[in-house]
Amino acid sequence: MKMGFSLAKGLILLVTAASMLAATSQAETIVVGGSEGWRFGFNYTDWSLKNSPFFVNDKLVFKYKPTHNVYLLPNLGSFIKCDFRGAKLLASATQGGGGGYGFTLQTLWRPLYFASNVGTDCKDGLMKFFVVPLPSW
Ligand SMILES: *[C@@H]1O[C@H](CO)[C@@H](O)[C@H](O)[C@H]1NC(C)=O
Repeated sequence: MKMGFSLAKGLILLVTAASMLAATSQAETIVVGGSEGWRFGFNYTDWSLKNSPFFVNDKLVFKYKPTHNVYLLPNLGSFIKCDFRGAKLLASATQGGGGGYGFTLQTLWRPLYFASNVGTDCKDGLMKFFVVPLPSW
């Protein structure tokens, strides 16, 4: 006898798939740079590529010595050029200690450009990256 693809089996598959998706899209706390933290000379573009995707409600945590900071740059052009005109200070030099500075991703689809602007952190220190928060459910 041939086994058909019953509605019940279909439902079980659907529920299983949905619960797996839900399990993998729980909001996460992600330390930027992992054990390297937020420091001069670590490639954060590479880090963000390897740690993508990021989801709405994920929290990025920046841990750093008081020789760096965290800015949000206004657009791709300013990001590429490390141009801090119009940038918004998110966390000062002193906010990276202890548990670090936490930033929760809330803007769906809109790229967020992060950078440090102490000395040549951004230009030479590779201390910049962007994330595009995807929907979580
Ligand atoms: C940083 O990583 C990106 C992505 O992997 C790569 O394209 C780029 O060349 C790297 N930059 C440096 C300076 O190594």
